[in-house]
Amino acid sequence: MKHLVSIDDLTKDEIHEIFVKTKKIKNSPTTYRTTREHTILANLFYEPSTRTNSSFFTAMTKLGGKVLNINNVNYSSVTKGESLKDTIITMGNYCDVIALRSRTAGDALKAAKVSTVPIINAGDGNGEHPTQTLLDLYTIWDKFNRIEDLTITFVGDIENSRTIHSLDKSLTNCNKHYRDTYNQEPWPKSDVYYLTRVQKERGSSGSYSMTQDHVSSMHENSIILHPFPRNEEIPEWFDDDPRAKYFEQMENGLYVRMTLLMAYTEILSNKVYLTNNYIWTK
Ligand code: CP
Repeated sequence: MKHLVSIDDLTKDEIHEIFVKTKKIKNSPTTYRTTREHTILANLFYEPSTRTNSSFFTAMTKLGGKVLNINNVNYSSVTKGESLKDTIITMGNYCDVIALRSRTAGDALKAAKVSTVPIINAGDGNGEHPTQTLLDLYTIWDKFNRIEDLTITFVGDIENSRTIHSLDKSLTNCNKHYRDTYNQEPWPKSDVYYLTRVQKERGSSGSYSMTQDHVSSMHENSIILHPFPRNEEIPEWFDDDPRAKYFEQMENGLYVRMTLLMAYTEILSNKVYLTNNYIWTK
């Protein structure tokens, strides 16, 4: 059983394999419908989500599986005081894989230790968000054909951004810069600017916004990424700039999660039948 708690749980080769399969799925998403109609994903979300929850739901549905969606634990027995451990053990009886979003860093690892089914960390507090990192990396790879020898500037609430924590770990051979939210100094010339919002729900305060001066300092081939939701960090006037890749980035989240769920389906069934009769084996 393979859990995905941290981006470190995947090797460089596995990540590259995910990119290649994601590209195939993106080019022909309807082809990839498995016969595992009875595979059930549980979306167990202790924190709000739009993209991660919905894209996991759509990914599993497009693959022909089913989704048990607990996207507001307040309507579950968690409100009666049920622990994470008991909830995970319970859900393991009803599903084949769990996508878990939790409030506290380390929860995904705790869940993985007691779970009878694979746990996919869908964001644990200010810890990590490995599936977000896969779609971030895929977007970078798709643009630059590599994820090494790039210059990346992280801008935002670096301490509390789980998306930055995971992406930072995975970009090992890159030139990296960090700008906190209160620092409006010019950005270094970079290939990728990765912005995140101020995490008010984790006690951070303040706000920041990119300016025309920042945009003027970017080169033509650079890209701006943001995991979203955004607040003021990227004004809407930038959305039509070809360097604004954040909408494509979130779209890629669907295809990356389809790839990942196919891999889990494969692990569960040992083989996956695609509608073109191709069998994806290890
Ligand atoms: N990027 C991201 O995790 O978005 P959601 O919180 O909407 O899932």
